[in-house]
Amino acid sequence: ATILVLHGPNLNMLGVREPDVYGRETLQDINDRLHATASDRGHHLLHLQSNAEYELIERLHDARAEGIDYLVFNPAAFTHTSVALRDAVLASGIPFIEVHLSNVHTREPFRHHSYFSDIADGVICGLGSQGYDLALAAALQKLNS
Ligand code: DQA
Repeated sequence: ATILVLHGPNLNMLGVREPDVYGRETLQDINDRLHATASDRGHHLLHLQSNAEYELIERLHDARAEGIDYLVFNPAAFTHTSVALRDAVLASGIPFIEVHLSNVHTREPFRHHSYFSDIADGVICGLGSQGYDLALAAALQKLNS
């Protein structure tokens, strides 16, 4: 199967950006590890980080055409703002798990609402980069069953 990992705005700054909140690992560390896990299990993993809403939207449109089976998605700040990205995920018809490194529920009130959680298979937050690994493990289990 093919899994697409999508990372929203500012996640290219991981490792540098507020390390007390988001950890010291870089996005490349995370992507490399997810890649290794997926290939060990005989699956393909693609990833994209973008700071631009339209690029994430267009990636989702292409994902539908490409036959991507599952998404692991950290919409970052767009989580709390983007009806357009929500609609793009719905248009893709691809099931997904929403991931946040930080526990958004312990942070500012504007981070408590997500435009994605009610349409996600599952939501993982507050476990740092391990959240991505857990999401990938859950996705692979769903795809194999
Ligand atoms: C985030 C949480 C969001 O509120 C924030 O805007 C981010 C990252 C997380 O992974 O914890 O950029 O999605």
